[in-house]
Amino acid sequence: MSHDYRQEYRLAVNAARAAGKLLMSHYGRLQRSQISAKSRNDFVTVVDKRSEKLITALIRSAYPDHAILGEEGGASGHGQVRWIIDPLDGTSNYIHHFPMFAVSIAVADRQGLQVGVVYDPLHEELFTALRGHGAHLNGRPISVSGTRKLADAFMATGIPFRARPRFDQYLKAFGKISMASAGMRRGGSAALDLAYVACGRFDGFFEINLSPWDIAAAALMIQEAGGRVTDFWGSSGFLGSGDVLASNRRIHAELHAITRVSVRPKNI
Ligand code: IPD
Ligand code: CA
Ligand code: CA
Repeated sequence: MSHDYRQEYRLAVNAARAAGKLLMSHYGRLQRSQISAKSRNDFVTVVDKRSEKLITALIRSAYPDHAILGEEGGASGHGQVRWIIDPLDGTSNYIHHFPMFAVSIAVADRQGLQVGVVYDPLHEELFTALRGHGAHLNGRPISVSGTRKLADAFMATGIPFRARPRFDQYLKAFGKISMASAGMRRGGSAALDLAYVACGRFDGFFEINLSPWDIAAAALMIQEAGGRVTDFWGSSGFLGSGDVLASNRRIHAELHAITRVSVRPKNI
């Protein structure tokens, strides 16, 4: 029999809310000295680190034998249940007071993603998913949009600044999807972009070179909300590759027809 993840779900919600509170207490108050660059255009602040510490401490005290993968702290533990954490998704937005950032927490086991929580503390929007129990926004059930054609689709993407060798390929897909759809946005928080697909604000989203902590929680949300998440070539390996194509399901084939011929997988 499969494990009941309701307790982990509640902890993920509490941890995301506590981390969100921390994010808000420093929002607009960061000093230059509290920001550093991990690599070109890739920033981290003291708040990212404190948020992750807070979340991992809550998980460790409740589930000492679970494994954790956090963006700032890396991997720890060997348990079969793994927590996947982005303590602040949209760090550049946060630094520049661009109002789109979130905390993302997922729980996965050998059967796949089980819990997903994305919390936007500025707009007080809590997106949640528990496998087999649907997806919710502030406690109300959500579902993907009913848009049937790419020509009518309101799309989102992320600009993959770390993917230099494949950037031109990405731009090819970007160009084709921009021309074929009804609009394109770049929000700057992949977790929220994906959560917005789950609740029907966006009809689809694509980006390459993401990390598991950007994707995991909201991918489950989209699946539970009736949508589809694959890589650019239609397979389910998106958590490993970071190449993500998400949609309301209805426009997936049209999007996939573009991404599969525009972009090559990482090692080809
Ligand atoms: C970033 C955001 C952004 C995406 C980047 C991510 P971070 O996460 O999700 O939208 O384009 O690839 O790295 O660094 O702000 O947690
Ligand atoms: Ca991120
Ligand atoms: Ca982050």
